[in-house]
Amino acid sequence: MRQFRPTLLALTLVATAPAALLAQGGRGGGEPPKNLQVLPKDMPRNQVTALMRQFTMALGVRCEHCHTEDPAAAAAAASAPAGGRGGRGGGPQLDYALDDKENKKVARDMLKMVMDINGKYLPTTGRTLNDLNRVTCETCHHGLAKPRTLRAAMTEAVTAKGADSAIALYRALRLRYYGAAAYDFSEMSLSETGNQLATVPDNRKAAIAILKLNLEFFPQSIPTLQNLANVSIQAGDTAGAVDALNKALAIQPDNNQLRNLLQRIKPPGS
Ligand code: HEC
Ligand code: HEC
Repeated sequence: MRQFRPTLLALTLVATAPAALLAQGGRGGGEPPKNLQVLPKDMPRNQVTALMRQFTMALGVRCEHCHTEDPAAAAAAASAPAGGRGGRGGGPQLDYALDDKENKKVARDMLKMVMDINGKYLPTTGRTLNDLNRVTCETCHHGLAKPRTLRAAMTEAVTAKGADSAIALYRALRLRYYGAAAYDFSEMSLSETGNQLATVPDNRKAAIAILKLNLEFFPQSIPTLQNLANVSIQAGDTAGAVDALNKALAIQPDNNQLRNLLQRIKPPGS
């Protein structure tokens, strides 16, 4: 185990580092790292830094997310005259060897997890792993510090702060992440969110609001209209259900399932 670990890591995590970089062996630029506990202890600094850059991309964060400011540099900056924050990029100077941040500790466990997935679990499925199919931080995080499905984010917001707040969250997330593949904005995502929310009676109103939100973006979505009809029936809103079914039938006139449902719930004489 101990023996194949560094190789495994070199394969799994640094696989995307340019060969020239790996070929430099132990002479990576800068001081050698002094507090590596999961990565091979002798991993050259420039390889570590290349890997770290992958972390920041995968999580959509900066180095400060996991690393703390160098206390000596901070003190010097505090006593220097205005503008004396002399780091190269103008940002704080970080002491990468310190373990002061919870996120760095979590990241170590994540690193071990990723190594296990690629080293232990995926190979037992008979797969041959390469750069394109092995799991990386990005597989789960895809640009988010805390990976969440859209359904989870919406359900959490509905439960914590109600439908209006969840709808505001959706609009903000869509504006920021649409096209980034961070959240699933496709047709079925909110439709299914509404469906699942409605299994809790207290959430039915919110479910209806979420389904209507989906119709704003997918006005022709039959599954959404159908879910809206069903949830409206559960919520005792027959008029809302009839309205949704009529809209769906206008799009798909020969959908018998919709027609039968409409027949069953239509108040007599309408
Ligand atoms: C998601 C968290 C995370 C982010 C973001 C991150 N790092 Fe790290 N970094 C770690 C962890 C975890 C270790 C320790 C790995 C180990 O123990 O094997 C580490 C170690 C290091 C080390 C080795 C320090 C030593 O002396 O032991 C350097 C250098 C470093 N990171 C640089 C950076 C740079 C530069 C960035 C920004 C481009 C960055 N890191 C972003 C988590 C992170
Ligand atoms: C199998 C999926 C998966 C992979 C792969 C993965 N993570 Fe995570 N990560 C998660 C989940 C789930 C959470 C918890 C999110 C939450 O608390 O809401 C998380 C949380 C974190 C956190 C804490 C974030 C916070 O704000 O509390 C850090 C840091 C982190 N991951 C770093 C990494 C790094 C670095 C890698 C790659 C070495 C990685 N993760 C790979 C699923 C994954």
